[in-house]
Amino acid sequence: MFWFNKKHPDVLYVDSRIVPPTKLSNGATFSVSPDKVMDFRSLDLQDETFSLVVFDPPHVVNAGKASFLANKYGYLSKNTWKEDLRRGFSECFRVLKPNGVLIFKWNECHIPLLDVLALTSIEPLFGNRGGRSYKTHWLCFMKLDASP
Ligand SMILES: C[S@@+](CC[C@H](N)C(=O)[O-])C[C@H]1O[C@@H](n2cnc3c(N)ncnc32)[C@H](O)[C@@H]1O
Repeated sequence: MFWFNKKHPDVLYVDSRIVPPTKLSNGATFSVSPDKVMDFRSLDLQDETFSLVVFDPPHVVNAGKASFLANKYGYLSKNTWKEDLRRGFSECFRVLKPNGVLIFKWNECHIPLLDVLALTSIEPLFGNRGGRSYKTHWLCFMKLDASP
């Protein structure tokens, strides 16, 4: 959804599902058509391959599986989200080249950003500070020499 060019030749688009063009309850049509179906907890990609990784996991927990939000953005398991996101961060940093950049997007609709940042030992360098009303955060990390 947020890519300006949804078919950029230098981008590998990855998601765990394929959704054919579907009408949502608000009337809009959307689809999910990744280049590769993959699980961010265990990426079928070699170590240190990418200069830039974008990690935009679902933010919603406990959403009804048929809800608008769950259909559009996917959803997290209320039992395993911490371990799932921990593994997701670890995989992102594994496939990044040294000095590679990770862009992480998070919406605090259900889980505070600080709880999610506790799932990786690497600190973000900077990001937007949305304040109370703007719940979406974009953070920038770099895989520096000292990163685990
Ligand atoms: C917030 S949306 C990402 C939207 C995307 N940034 C875009 O521009 O279209 C989160 C996506 O994560 C996917 N997802 C959920 N669990 C996943 C997993 N374990 N591995 C890979 N993708 C997953 C969902 O299917 C959903 O499409």
